[in-house]
Amino acid sequence: LIDSAANARDNAYCPYSKFRVGAAVLCDNGSILSAGCNVENVSYGATVCAERVALFNAVSSGRTKFRAIAICCDILGKFKGPCGMCRQALIEFGSDWEIYLVKPESKEWKKVDLDYLLPMAFTPKDLEAERVQT
Ligand code: THU
Repeated sequence: LIDSAANARDNAYCPYSKFRVGAAVLCDNGSILSAGCNVENVSYGATVCAERVALFNAVSSGRTKFRAIAICCDILGKFKGPCGMCRQALIEFGSDWEIYLVKPESKEWKKVDLDYLLPMAFTPKDLEAERVQT
């Protein structure tokens, strides 16, 4: 999974930032790996991060239960977490899966989870909570 994330980085389309990111998702059955890289756009706002490309790729294959995602960018010597929008996209599918942050130079990894990355998150359950009548 770590290698898949690092390899997906090779396909990053990032002519504007020159900042490559790769991600790979491991589905609950353990057999489906789906990878993604960041895809930038001249309008900037249409850019999609590697994490969401990998996640949406998996969802497009019919998967909605995940075991892990690995994320690798080019920043040396740091375990770099995903952006806020990607944290929200990931927690849509629950918080009981593993997030592996990977250092590019050594492939050293750190395991974190979504409750740590996105405390007090807004999740699908919140739409079912009791609300004031309107
Ligand atoms: N990027 C990602 O792919 N994932 C993140 O979590 C942070 C940012 C991409 C978006 C853009 O192509 C480039 O990195 C610089 O922001």
